[in-house]
Amino acid sequence: APTIPVAAVQAHLNQLQQIATANGGNRAHGRPGFKASIDYVKAKLDAAGYQTKVLEFTNWGTKGYNLIADWPGGDPNSILMAGGHLDSVGSGPGINDNGSGSAGLLEVALTVSKQQLKPKQHLRFGWWGAEELGLVGSTNYVNSLPAAEKAKIKGYVNFDMTGSPNPAYFVYSSSGQPAGSEKLQSTLEAYFKSINVPTETTNVGGRSDHAAFARAGIPTGGTFSGAEGRKTAAQAQKWGGQAGVAFDKCYHQSCDTTSNINAQSLERHTNAIAHTIWTVAGTTRTVPV
Ligand code: PHE
Ligand code: ZN
Ligand code: ZN
Ligand code: ZN
Repeated sequence: APTIPVAAVQAHLNQLQQIATANGGNRAHGRPGFKASIDYVKAKLDAAGYQTKVLEFTNWGTKGYNLIADWPGGDPNSILMAGGHLDSVGSGPGINDNGSGSAGLLEVALTVSKQQLKPKQHLRFGWWGAEELGLVGSTNYVNSLPAAEKAKIKGYVNFDMTGSPNPAYFVYSSSGQPAGSEKLQSTLEAYFKSINVPTETTNVGGRSDHAAFARAGIPTGGTFSGAEGRKTAAQAQKWGGQAGVAFDKCYHQSCDTTSNINAQSLERHTNAIAHTIWTVAGTTRTVPV
């Protein structure tokens, strides 16, 4: 896969921060900062040649949105999806949670376009609404698909928190989920191994949007740089950073700003996304990329 420059991902995070700042300090479900975030990501994808749609749903009377972007081409009956939630909590701008995964996915999608990738599988990206209210957007999306459409989705890879300031390199465990994918797990692990970064598996359970797909029997995977959990001494030994301190000390707080991002973590996790998409979806090119 091509290398994604972290500066491009950070530029998207700066835009999401500005959106929050201009809209009361957050990008939460039901607030103007969320819709402005959807509009920002959608405009970039439209300009890059994606087929986008904004799918509306309601949660207890409040309107929410999922953004779906299809890259034209590939086998329509074998879809690889990648996604993450674009909403923040109400208490802050949500730059690590989950501007980081959202911005990484966006830059990977834009790189697919720049390279005019011709994948074997059809590629679809999703930015979910109302994750923070209980995986509402992703669950709504999966439940809205007819069985025949669901069956076409052969895998879903999730990115929720990738730039934690005291980062971990967690890969979702395929064995701890109803439909964990060993292939997605091993592909993500292989990327980190290629850059000499040790990983740990983590059982994310129902804590992020992959769970909506897993519950529908779709194979899932993902990566995660850590939230409120504290880094152990052994983890600090292998990953650097501070033992006894939360992976993200600003988790769900107003200080989850662009200052709350570890650029090296953001870069590595974003490139894990790219590597996985290029590797799993396959390419019809004969020259390795
Ligand atoms: N989904 C959680 C949140 O948005 C964060 C999280 C991500 C927790 C991945 C565990 C694993 O608050
Ligand atoms: Zn959160
Ligand atoms: Zn999150
Ligand atoms: Zn690669």
